[in-house]
Amino acid sequence: LPAMTNNLTTTNRHSHLPARNSAVLKRKAVVIGEAVASDDADRIFPDQDFAQQAHVPDFGKYLEMYTWSIEDPAGFWSEMADGFYWKKKWGQQVNSENLDITKGNIKIEWFKGGITNICYNCLDRNIESGNGEKIAIHWEGNDRGVDDSLTYNQLLDRVCQLANYLKENGVKKGDSVIIYLPMLMELPISMLACARIGAVHSVVFAGFSAESLEQRIIDCKPKIVITCNAVKRGTKVINLKDIVDSALSESSQNGVHVGLCLTYANEPAMKREDTKWQKQRDVWWQDVVPKCSTKCDVEWVDAEDPLFLLYTSGSTGKPKGVLHTTGGYMVYTAATFKYAFDYKPSDIYWCTADCGWITGHSYVAYGPLLNGATVLVYEGVPNYPDPGRCWDIVDKYKVTIFYTAPTLVRSLMRDGNEAILGSVGEPINPSAWRWFYNVVGDSRCPISDTWWQTETGGFMITPLPGAWPQKPGSATFPFFGVQPAIVDEKGKEMEGECSGYLCVKTSWPGAFRTLFGDHERYETTYFSAFPGYYFSGDGCSRDKDGYYWLTGRVDDVINVSGHRIGTAEVESALVSHPKCAEAAVVGVEHEVKGQCIYAFVTPVEGVEYSEDLKKSLVLSVRTNIGAFAAPDKIHWAPGLPKTRSGKIMRRILRKIASRQLDELGDTSTLADPNVVDQLIALADS
Ligand code: PRX
Repeated sequence: LPAMTNNLTTTNRHSHLPARNSAVLKRKAVVIGEAVASDDADRIFPDQDFAQQAHVPDFGKYLEMYTWSIEDPAGFWSEMADGFYWKKKWGQQVNSENLDITKGNIKIEWFKGGITNICYNCLDRNIESGNGEKIAIHWEGNDRGVDDSLTYNQLLDRVCQLANYLKENGVKKGDSVIIYLPMLMELPISMLACARIGAVHSVVFAGFSAESLEQRIIDCKPKIVITCNAVKRGTKVINLKDIVDSALSESSQNGVHVGLCLTYANEPAMKREDTKWQKQRDVWWQDVVPKCSTKCDVEWVDAEDPLFLLYTSGSTGKPKGVLHTTGGYMVYTAATFKYAFDYKPSDIYWCTADCGWITGHSYVAYGPLLNGATVLVYEGVPNYPDPGRCWDIVDKYKVTIFYTAPTLVRSLMRDGNEAILGSVGEPINPSAWRWFYNVVGDSRCPISDTWWQTETGGFMITPLPGAWPQKPGSATFPFFGVQPAIVDEKGKEMEGECSGYLCVKTSWPGAFRTLFGDHERYETTYFSAFPGYYFSGDGCSRDKDGYYWLTGRVDDVINVSGHRIGTAEVESALVSHPKCAEAAVVGVEHEVKGQCIYAFVTPVEGVEYSEDLKKSLVLSVRTNIGAFAAPDKIHWAPGLPKTRSGKIMRRILRKIASRQLDELGDTSTLADPNVVDQLIALADS
């Protein structure tokens, strides 16, 4: 059975498995077992040579490991955790059984009492096992030809310098630090430096507006904000310091005063002298951090001490501070990275996500570095200066594992086709083309469709390349230790082929432990809809072969280019506009973005519909949330379809937005059915 040893890559073979006596598992095993038995044309089988060298080479091996992980979670996860350095071994390994809110508080704990440090395990441990001179991070800048790299030794030095600086400036274990940085190396460095001293980082995606940043500052009251002056995204320069200035001065007025803003001078984007500066508060990173010592003792923390906070959207207007702790998250991200990507030490790995989202936390920073991997960090946009940039980068660094969002694949496929068609008679970068062709056209590389969430910390349902055939569009089977359940509206678990609400039974090590400052919301949002289960908010079906197919959110959350956005947040941004009386937002299918934001807006009385008003409404969303949440369409609404009790019927709005006008369904329960005709009449205005 593959197990993690020191560098997480060697294997150790056990000849005995624990007894299989769980009824639940037998059912599961049968469901999955059927998958191998039948033989569909829609499957894509793993290449045999690839499979043979994989950590999990076939379905039988997966079943063995999966069975073990479900029947004996403590034993299985101990084995996974053993490869890490623990200052002190945990006492009780797992407290994962009870997710039933009706039986008391939800309290998830893994490796409780174990003392460790995730930064030590990412860096020092890999260096001690001989990988100090291996490249940890290749960094590729926005502009071609601007790049850098750090070995594990160098990365540790940089992390220690910043950690020392933070300590000197009063940051202690348990304090929070907000990091508002684009994809510079300083972003993972900052995360690791916080982790090293036991501080709780909260990375805010650098596409969020000043108001969103302010909201997060007020919520988590950081000791320090780490940022940079500006960033180049393609040809655009974005002045991040201005955004931070405005967020900090607003939060000060609301009682949360941050005394130190450590600012990295990102000179290719903006010179220091062009940056607005507040002497008492702002400090240039380059002036202070390099002077600090490259040795910094580790703050040993309990496995259940918080590691980071990451805000995400839910169905209300207020973002949720998802809290992850140290030990379980560490073991889970490392294991999922190793198995789902079939990681080998020779791999060069590139994940295009930004560290401002969970994917960047788990699969740009922690998962790969815990495995001692070489990670590529790209500052820029995928299609700048041309659609070939991604494939050029892949070629330049000889990337062997490429992890990205479907939106990027879709946009590059579109651009790629144009590039191919447009390139007749003149050269197109052949290596990039070949790679593109092989991945998108010939399936030489296995494609893993990973289902998970900010809340889950790591992959939950994911292919293990090599272990079983793929079905395009299906996330396939659960990762070790994960027991998905599809339940009906009443919360009854369904068996076999079915579709319903995707839940998870019992906890897994990477699960979030609470919503920061609001454990009650944690319990009601996730554990009360279907007692006994964690409810994901997603719809899902399972086919006759046991494959899982995600069908999208069933709540008021939309997913725009992989960014999770709450409709309520967009609505409150719209109604904050003085000329907007009411707004209702729905998600609509979009060719590249997956979903886009479609807003129905009722202006205040007497205000005329105009293109200018549309622009200024969109601007209101940009300044309240960020450009990524800007609505694609504003649809004028003299009124909104409401029930007699005043509830907006979004089902009808979704149909109007997607122009499925003959599928409006029953409109007789509306307070004013004429509203629907008015909306249809205004569809293209
Ligand atoms: O709706 C699901 C969708 O993304 C949501 C989680 O968003 P977030 O917390 O921002 O994390 C994104 C990165 C994991 C889920 O509730 N989602 C995630 N993965 C998939 C997916 N939908 C379909 N297929 C997936 N593989």
